[in-house]
Amino acid sequence: MKVTTILGSPRKNGNTAKVLGLLEKLLAQGHKVDRIDIADFQVRGCLGCGACKKITDQPGCVQDDEANALFERMLDSDILIYASPLYSWGFTSQMKAFIDRHFCLVTGYGGPDYQSLIAGKRLALLVTCDGPIENNADLIQVAFERIGDYVRCDLVGKYIIPFSSTPDALKDKAIEVARQMAKDIVGAC
Ligand SMILES: Cc1cc2nc3c(=O)[nH]c(=O)nc-3n(C[C@H](O)[C@H](O)[C@H](O)COP(=O)(O)O)c2cc1C
Repeated sequence: MKVTTILGSPRKNGNTAKVLGLLEKLLAQGHKVDRIDIADFQVRGCLGCGACKKITDQPGCVQDDEANALFERMLDSDILIYASPLYSWGFTSQMKAFIDRHFCLVTGYGGPDYQSLIAGKRLALLVTCDGPIENNADLIQVAFERIGDYVRCDLVGKYIIPFSSTPDALKDKAIEVARQMAKDIVGAC
């Protein structure tokens, strides 16, 4: 299987990258893993122009940045893993911009011709945060579920690591979550 991982943190060696890196190592034993470091690419915010709604067979955003090319990398994946630190109770602005741009993958929303170019792919969410899960990392989970429904994907799981201080301090927690994710996502451990 092909797995695309999307890192939404601007910190390449941060908490989220640490867990994601461990997960990628596990998944790479038998699967093709492609990482998108979203902070490395130019992905502007959605303009809400709706021009993409006229194009049904490819990512049809009219903006001349790197989002469409990133979507092309995701189209032939079986599994999409979104990994983000919690910023202001939600996604980082880099990840949020990219998620908003998923608008161009969906046409005919709610109608008889409703389709998504990434329909049927398996999705997972990984979040690290400073605080607890309760009253802190709750909204991001609901938002992700809704986004998953919108793009017609199958949610495998949401994995939240609270009280993440430093990558080194994550230690056993990082490998424990990475192993659980690999097991749930592809049956590896
Ligand atoms: C701008 C900003 C906003 C943040 N907002 C939250 C928050 O709402 N709740 C929380 O628990 N932690 C918050 N944090 C802490 C990060 O989520 C946490 O340190 C995370 O593990 C950082 O991940 P990274 O090292 O992969 O970037 C915030 C950090 C920053 C820089």
